[in-house]
Amino acid sequence: MSHHPDAAGFRAAASRFSTGVTVVTSSDGDGAPVGMTANSFTTVSTQPPTVLVSLKRGRTWQAVSASGRYAVNVLAADDVAIGRHFAGATLAQGAPAFDARDGFFLLPAAIAQFGCEVVSTVEIADHTLFIGEVRWCRHQDGLPLAFYASRFRNGLGAEILPSDGLAYPAEGWTI
Ligand SMILES: Cc1cc2nc3c(=O)[nH]c(=O)nc-3n(C[C@H](O)[C@H](O)[C@H](O)COP(=O)(O)O)c2cc1C
Repeated sequence: MSHHPDAAGFRAAASRFSTGVTVVTSSDGDGAPVGMTANSFTTVSTQPPTVLVSLKRGRTWQAVSASGRYAVNVLAADDVAIGRHFAGATLAQGAPAFDARDGFFLLPAAIAQFGCEVVSTVEIADHTLFIGEVRWCRHQDGLPLAFYASRFRNGLGAEILPSDGLAYPAEGWTI
């Protein structure tokens, strides 16, 4: 008996975990921005504020490894073109412009931005988990971009109210 599911079956099952979509940016050896679309972003802890991204070896991986810093830009539903661009698609409108803040490269349209310093790494196969402490963040209102079953989607459905009449707990939720 195989100890692993087949690759296509694993990808299909994993794709049923819906996520937001981010662009992870860093600066290359010349101080120029590089970035890649990533949905592996997750929050790890609130004290200290800590996140992680899982990046495959490539240009952005190289820049994050060398600089020890990265920014996470959470995309809005309007930003599908940006998500495709930073996943390697060649689009008519070209690369979006970045704002630079404290050496972090930020997308102005993002609904949240995090500037992170790498505090730990874990190597898994051809990916690295870059665990980062958040030095700076901001957010603005807007519909999120989502990714589900290998497709970009409008990410905000209707709120599901608890049917038991109990309020959501105010304490104990991490985020
Ligand atoms: C929705 C979406 C999410 C992605 N998430 C990740 C991810 O979390 N980690 C990763 O290594 N690649 C991810 N990718 C693929 C990278 O965006 C793509 O390979 C990119 O071209 C890598 O850029 P770079 O290696 O030149 O920096 C994702 C692609 C898409 C469309």
